[in-house]
Amino acid sequence: MGSISDTSFSVLTVADLEAVLQIEEDVYSHPWTRGNFLDSFYGGHQAQGLRNSRGDLLGYFFLMPIVDELHLLTFAVAREHQAKGYAKLLLEEMIRVARRQAFVSIMLEVRVSNLRAISVYEKFGFCEIGRRKGYYPVDIANREDAIVMRINVEQESL
Ligand SMILES: CC(C)(COP(=O)(O)OP(=O)(O)OC[C@H]1O[C@@H](n2cnc3c(N)ncnc32)[C@H](O)[C@@H]1OP(=O)(O)O)[C@@H](O)C(=O)NCCC(=O)NCCS
Repeated sequence: MGSISDTSFSVLTVADLEAVLQIEEDVYSHPWTRGNFLDSFYGGHQAQGLRNSRGDLLGYFFLMPIVDELHLLTFAVAREHQAKGYAKLLLEEMIRVARRQAFVSIMLEVRVSNLRAISVYEKFGFCEIGRRKGYYPVDIANREDAIVMRINVEQESL
């Protein structure tokens, strides 16, 4: 079954695309496409994957630098590995990535309906800084607001 201590992080590359897509398409109603991920890899974004000792991909994040801030583009834990604390491990690694390169903060958007993710972000220390009206598609006729959240990675409590 494995435990948190059996896990490790590594930089994701195009070679990991199939494993990432498998998770992304399973957990998101509107997943990133192969093209989105390729653009992100070739755009020099920062992508890290969390693996267990067998090498299975448990979760990942993609971050885009914007001046002194990192923008969280996509972040997921594989469905069968959720509720085991991996979301927190991934967020802690984001903070380390940001600090190593002297970024000041991490910013993200989340669907107002994504209560689980909002709860994870709030517990970790992200604060709402605004809303973007109709930011996300829901279906052909409807759109959904985004909550914009930010965390300052320089705070000592993290
Ligand atoms: C968001 C996500 C990364 C969280 O990872 P996770 O492993 O599921 O996180 P956990 O289950 O360990 O933690 C979820 C927390 O939210 C709480 N929670 C679970 N379901 C919830 C719900 N429906 N509403 C509110 N809170 C909820 C849990 O109680 C838990 O809190 P705890 O740690 O105090 O027990 C994961 O659910 C995921 O990949 N979702 C799909 C992709 C996604 O939405 N990404 C974020 C986009 S902005």
